[in-house]
Amino acid sequence: MTWVVVPAAGRGARFGGEVPKQYLEVAGEPLIAHSLRALFAHPGVKGAVVALAEGDARWQGWSDGSGRPVLACTGGDTRAESVLAGLAALPDEVRADAFVLVHDAARPNLRLGDLAALLERGREDPVGAILATPVRDTLKRAGDEGGIDRTEPRERLWRAQTPQLFRRLQLRLALEAAAADGIEVTDESMAMERKGARPLLVEGAEDNIKVTTPADLVYFEFLLARRAVGEDA
Ligand code: CTP
Ligand code: MG
Repeated sequence: MTWVVVPAAGRGARFGGEVPKQYLEVAGEPLIAHSLRALFAHPGVKGAVVALAEGDARWQGWSDGSGRPVLACTGGDTRAESVLAGLAALPDEVRADAFVLVHDAARPNLRLGDLAALLERGREDPVGAILATPVRDTLKRAGDEGGIDRTEPRERLWRAQTPQLFRRLQLRLALEAAAADGIEVTDESMAMERKGARPLLVEGAEDNIKVTTPADLVYFEFLLARRAVGEDA
């Protein structure tokens, strides 16, 4: 049984607008409720800790409806600080060496099959694992004044997603070490990699999108509508 930390304390600066994106509604529910439902779809998910912005008045305690606990805590100024706050707020029953998932509140389209694969394969890895997709675009390195310096090889390049699966204590120590070194890590794996760990890449669907801009929200609306009529791949 695995607990999840859900960082949900961001302000959505790139999205813009007054309502932080995790509270924007699609099909009558905020993104964070969609994200939580996707997590609790897996019977191995035992509970969640949601890290909220200080003074967040929008949180209404969404849960999966099947009695598994959803706890809230106050996050921090960076995503990493929010994850650290979530790790600290996990119940004592979550042992130091227990695997814990971290999943963005703003990533509402996680597929059950991908979550299951991550849990299965990640638990067999000594370090842990992340969901990711191979880079498919041709990548250009920009030079000065907008010109292209060169084309970067995309072989072996992956786009990191969440959930990411690591052991509770190891992840805390890795995130604390990055913070002490003044490095702002953008995902859990980056903190673990700085410690010399080599987390496993588990390939997931490309439509496990993080809603960052208004166009992403429109795409999620489309994905959800397609799922509703049973056209999901
Ligand atoms: N997050 C968080 N605490 C922060 C910053 C981000 O818990 N201090 C969360 C966000 O709420 C989101 C996830 O981390 O669920 C991924 O971050 P991102 O997409 O960057 O969201 P924001 O930081 O809100 O957006 P932006 O960077 O555009 O401001
Ligand atoms: Mg951010």
